Amino acid sequence: MTYSRVVGTGSYLPPQILTNADLEKKVDTSDQWIVERTGIRERRVAGPEETSCSMGVEAARRALTSANLAPTDVDLIIVATTTPDLVFPATACLLQERLGMRNCPAFDVQAVCSGFIYALAIADKFIRTGGARRALVIGTETFTRILDWTDRGTCVLFGDGAGAVIVEASESPGILSSHLHADGRYADLLCVPSGVSKGYDKVIASQAYVHMAGSEVFKVAVRVLGEVVDEALEANGMQRSDIDWLVPHQANIRIISATAKKLGLPMERVVTTVDRHGNTSAASIPLAFDEAVRDGRIKRNQVVLMEGVGGGFTWGSVLLKY
Ligand code: UT7
Repeated sequence: MTYSRVVGTGSYLPPQILTNADLEKKVDTSDQWIVERTGIRERRVAGPEETSCSMGVEAARRALTSANLAPTDVDLIIVATTTPDLVFPATACLLQERLGMRNCPAFDVQAVCSGFIYALAIADKFIRTGGARRALVIGTETFTRILDWTDRGTCVLFGDGAGAVIVEASESPGILSSHLHADGRYADLLCVPSGVSKGYDKVIASQAYVHMAGSEVFKVAVRVLGEVVDEALEANGMQRSDIDWLVPHQANIRIISATAKKLGLPMERVVTTVDRHGNTSAASIPLAFDEAVRDGRIKRNQVVLMEGVGGGFTWGSVLLKY
């Protein structure tokens, strides 16, 4: 049986830091409110020349270096992003060119904050079925570009960054399971309510930015992530105690704590970056994973549960043995 196994990780954060104190000067908010309700203290903001592609390239290079591989060793690129550089071509194609890679499939996945889970699950299926031997999977976002900086309900929550993993075919696990879900009935709760299909002339400024019904999103997120935990454990015949690490999407520390509680995991076994990164959408899981791999918390053969939920709604999990 062929599995896909993580052989490299990398990430990139833009240098510019935006603190809660900085936001207090922009909107009617407070450091205390943001910390208590979300756990966020600061987030990164992409510089004027930085894009989802440029940050993804940096994360990819670091992942390749950690795996001791050249770009040409990769035969599949999947980029999860909600904030592509262009309407087309796909950010994955732009990134392929910048890395000097030729003639491997390269495409984007749009599943918002669950994008990395979707992308990793797709890469796993390619590898298991022999469609690829080694895949570069990236989550990268310039989410601050689609924020309304006068809306305190959303602008305090998000940040920019990129994370990457390389997965390759292996006789031993590897990714043990992936589960993907979507329910378009919740589309209005979290969206940017405009797009190219209606025509550029129809886009009005107020619709070009993130709209969110925060507390409703919160309730759905806690519920579906609880279901995802049960689903992943059951599919693998595992107990809660078999999970060594939870690497969750980093939207809100209260949502993360609820999932950890469901798993019976102490917070020391949960990788959290939300305090320093905010919600970086598709980038948040690979950013957190890379941090915990690099600082030695996540060790080889440990069992890691990744989970995420986001606009769509989309949600899902990947359970892997690192
Ligand atoms: O990535 C996946 C998708 N996103 C999420 O998972 C986010 C999910 N939602 C959340 O994380 C939380 O719902 C929020 C952090 C967005 C909001 O927390 P909440 O505890 O659900 O607050 P709320 O929306 O019920 O608002 C409570 C109060 C309101 O005031 P009133 O109506 O009680 O007077 C808001 O107007 O807090 C007010 N408020 C703020 N106050 C200070 C909302 N935003 C802010 C703010 N600063 N930035």
